[in-house]
Amino acid sequence: MTQTITVIRGDGIGPEIMEATLHVLDAMQLGLQYEFAEAGMAALEQHGELLPQATLDSIRTHRIALKSPLTTPVGGGFSSINVELRKRFDLYANVRPAKSFPNTKSRFPSGVDIITVRENTEGAYIGEGQTLSADGETATLTQKVTRRGSERIVRYAFDMARRIGRKKVTVVHKANILKSTSGLFLKTAREVAAQYPDIECNEMIVDACCMKLVMEPEKFDVIVTTNLFGDIISDLCAGLVGGLGLAPGANIGTEAAIFEAVHGSAPDIAGKGIANPCALLLAAAQMLDHMGRPADATRLREAIVATLEAKDSLTPDLGGTGTTLGFARAIAARV
Ligand code: NAI
Ligand code: MG
Repeated sequence: MTQTITVIRGDGIGPEIMEATLHVLDAMQLGLQYEFAEAGMAALEQHGELLPQATLDSIRTHRIALKSPLTTPVGGGFSSINVELRKRFDLYANVRPAKSFPNTKSRFPSGVDIITVRENTEGAYIGEGQTLSADGETATLTQKVTRRGSERIVRYAFDMARRIGRKKVTVVHKANILKSTSGLFLKTAREVAAQYPDIECNEMIVDACCMKLVMEPEKFDVIVTTNLFGDIISDLCAGLVGGLGLAPGANIGTEAAIFEAVHGSAPDIAGKGIANPCALLLAAAQMLDHMGRPADATRLREAIVATLEAKDSLTPDLGGTGTTLGFARAIAARV
């Protein structure tokens, strides 16, 4: 069975890590076909716009995109293309796994396996209602949370937990202080949780949660939270297990899903052939899970782990002297 996905090579290290990732996917002989589309600086140069209609059409048609990081130009009225893509396709669930891997120079080389499910479309993070008074002394921001938005993200987290055999969901909030917004999120989360008696549910206030994550990360399983808290907590979790080179993320909606690394376009190392391709490869594994191919996803993850264990061709961020493509070849040899 062949299936076509949209592939966005992106900016900076994007084309390098995408080439590496596609090399591994090709070696797996999955029957995947790629429709290449541009976004970001590459699109601006070739088509005069950051997010061409052809790219949106491709994602709408194939419903699945594998995407490298995009550089957001600073200033000039450009909003983040990533935020724009999430809005256009209503990609409401941002799913970010953080798992211990061997030989990664992390503080927790084993025992951590946390999936943060972050609401992706509302809350403070989307920056609605931002104002700055004329004298520059006062700034405001509107924070809007809806029952619908809260319900669908919490339901996503519980359904996911059930589907992949996870045991516990921690609802992270600040309802003691932000009684309206975080309060509505928590109240809705409790109602949803009651419908999943087979999954343990606990609640944690966000600041205490950060402390517990650092002290006892192995006690966490699935975390579900609002947009801004999820942004921060998922980076914290990535840090626990060895940093951005190993942190993938999925942006999932009902009409489309976009899979990407959590990291950006890394202009400081672009063109040097030393970027770690693992985050994008792990995003590809999430993509395979989403496509209903869990056995292939596992095969890919196991090949990555085996390559890390063998310290074969690791890139400099992991303490090795390997190249992006060399690392990918070592992984491809194990799929
Ligand atoms: P960054 O994540 O690109 O880089 C931060 C640091 O991590 C750099 O030192 C970089 O060399 C290193 N790094 C990142 N990925 C790596 C990899 N795969 N292997 C080895 N080292 C790696 O963050 P920064 O510099 O803040 O952002 C650069 C650009 O990326 C900006 O234009 C930003 O807007 C964009 N960005 C795009 C994202 C996306 O497309 N999803 C996400 C985050 C940032
Ligand atoms: Mg972030």
